Amino acid sequence: MDNNIIIRFNEIGSTSDEARKLALSGAPHGTIIIAETQTGGRGRGRKKFFSPRGGIYFSILLHADKMKITGAAPATIFAAVLVCEAIEKICGFEVSVKWVNDILLNEKKVCGILAESVNDAIIMGIGINFETRPEDFPKEIKSTAGSLYPSGAPCGAKEELIGEIINAFLRSDPRGDAEIFREYKKRLSMLGAQIIVTAGKETFAATALDVDADGALVVGTDFGETRRLISGEVTVAGPR
Ligand code: BTN
Repeated sequence: MDNNIIIRFNEIGSTSDEARKLALSGAPHGTIIIAETQTGGRGRGRKKFFSPRGGIYFSILLHADKMKITGAAPATIFAAVLVCEAIEKICGFEVSVKWVNDILLNEKKVCGILAESVNDAIIMGIGINFETRPEDFPKEIKSTAGSLYPSGAPCGAKEELIGEIINAFLRSDPRGDAEIFREYKKRLSMLGAQIIVTAGKETFAATALDVDADGALVVGTDFGETRRLISGEVTVAGPR
């Protein structure tokens, strides 16, 4: 890793809240806040992110002028690709993506990514269920959450994975948007599948067709309309 500022906490509310405070007081590109456990870990849509010891929780401050990719949505796509590649490289597992930013191993969510804008920067918060045992997940997420090493990780794997992800964010990636999108879509298992979309108060059935350049999910509804989703929850209802 380069000489970036890395601030480690044993316990914190949320690494992204801390990163926001630092961003507002002028912290440099690449500042990283990492914690062993979070008491107020946050996910998208005001959901909690379960953050017990044994997981990986960090936020990295990315200044827009130091990145080729701007905007929280494309940055999330970029982050999902980098995290998938790091898991594949260090852990050797084949992972997939559930739009927009959940990373799945054997269809269970092992990682969530939360991109938030602050001034001209993005705070990229990454939470990985690294060694959480299945029985330790709260009942609300027990059937959908998984972890990379539910029965214990090989020595050193955690630090190696953290290092690989951070380096991937901070190195200048030679790939352009088109290549990153290709990598993202390659791992997006829901393309072509029947899905159930919950967006605000609406729930409807559709087919997942594509992800466009803004990171929106393009779906075809059962009424023959094409719609672009920029947020919302999607569950796969059936095969392609
Ligand atoms: C999601 O699943 O919707 C996104 C979860 C993001 C969790 C990470 S853990 C590190 C950082 N701090 C937080 O409070 N949230 C993010």
